[in-house]
Amino acid sequence: MKNLILFFIMSIAFLLNACANDGDEPDLPSLKNPVATTPSDITDNSFTASWNFVSTAKSYRLDVSLQSDFTSFIEGYESLEVTALTAEVTDLTPATEYYFRVKAVRESAESDFSNVVMVTTTGTIIDTDVNLKDKAAGNFFVGAAVSTNRLTGGYNDLLTNEFNSITAESEMKMRTIFLGPGDYDWTRPDALVEYATDNNLNIHGHALVWHVEVPDWMTTFTGSNEEFEQIMEDYIKTVVTRYAGKITSWDVVNEAINDGGGVRNTIFLDKLGPDYIAKCFQWAREADPDVLLFYNDYNTPADLTKQNDVYALIDELQADNVPIDGLGLQMHISIDSPTRQQIQDDVDKALERNLIVHFSELDVRVNPDGREIVGTLTEERDFDQRLKYKEVVDLYNDIPDPFKYAITVWGIRDPDSWIINQYDRPDWPLLFDGSFNRKSAHTGFLEGLE
Ligand code: GLA
Repeated sequence: MKNLILFFIMSIAFLLNACANDGDEPDLPSLKNPVATTPSDITDNSFTASWNFVSTAKSYRLDVSLQSDFTSFIEGYESLEVTALTAEVTDLTPATEYYFRVKAVRESAESDFSNVVMVTTTGTIIDTDVNLKDKAAGNFFVGAAVSTNRLTGGYNDLLTNEFNSITAESEMKMRTIFLGPGDYDWTRPDALVEYATDNNLNIHGHALVWHVEVPDWMTTFTGSNEEFEQIMEDYIKTVVTRYAGKITSWDVVNEAINDGGGVRNTIFLDKLGPDYIAKCFQWAREADPDVLLFYNDYNTPADLTKQNDVYALIDELQADNVPIDGLGLQMHISIDSPTRQQIQDDVDKALERNLIVHFSELDVRVNPDGREIVGTLTEERDFDQRLKYKEVVDLYNDIPDPFKYAITVWGIRDPDSWIINQYDRPDWPLLFDGSFNRKSAHTGFLEGLE
């Protein structure tokens, strides 16, 4: 009888228990709190957070904050659902303390938070008040492309505070200067030279020979090839002589190699013959024995056939003792391309040939092909652009001193950039916004000089 009563009580207890567990949740133990562990892969801008496995948890929720009491969160890292036991935390600032914590989750059940782990990103906090040219500290020039109608007000302030070199965006090209055989208009190039001299700025001359912006009278020239060659020799010698001692360097020939390789078919190739590039360098050298002479071209880091042909051209010039001092890599690039390694490989080839390297027309597009076009400079693209500027400047800064010359950015304010017309889409490729304020890209440039 005693056993029967015991059996009866146990059966009732079992039934009551079964009824109590009749909801959606199976009868699982409560979730233990995860233990956040030592972070790994810490870089200037990221780290990997990790924590221990919690039995029966389906996922984890990660918080990352600048404060140990989590009064605010890093964008994208408030209760971020993660199924793995690690998460990469990206887009962070160098040399900054971050805190993370995590909780375990199973359907509507949650654990309490784990312990809080502090992590400091690598790198150094840089003084963002410093100017570009001061930060470069005389190791190389920091230049900007300019035009005579952008030399006053905010342009003047930035040119004289941030930069120590200028390149004429257009006004030292043939179409501006060369009105006809023996007929020159010096108004605008002279104004730029005077401005640079008054403000103690270096001048890079751009460009003696380019197949674009050729004067109309030249493209319709009907005289003999000998006459054309004489006109070209006179032009190069007259321009280089006029500015000898004032202009430090010239792009003698710009963009003579096609995209995808091969010598570009231009009026100069047609009328002067296959050694026209050598002739142009020789004439420039005869006019000024001291000026630095550059060949300048674009997209060679990413277009390897073009790059090979550029170096084949340079090898030929050097084998024939043609006076070439340097190579201008234009660096009209984007946040996605080319990679650091591609740029480095290109630079290395120039250095193997003892050429001075000029990053001559730097701008970084944030709306490249293959990405969704954004109508405003989003925080993410702004950050990517800062990293790209940092990467490019850092790489340039590592070039041995005798082979450095300048990094020239192709304009000052975003809205003035040629990129916007060229690609017919919004973009913000430069270091300063429309109100002459520094962008994150400017910080990236400074970071590259660390
Ligand atoms: C090339 C030229 C520059 C400039 C840009 C934009 O890069 O070298 O002078 O004109 O194109 O058009």
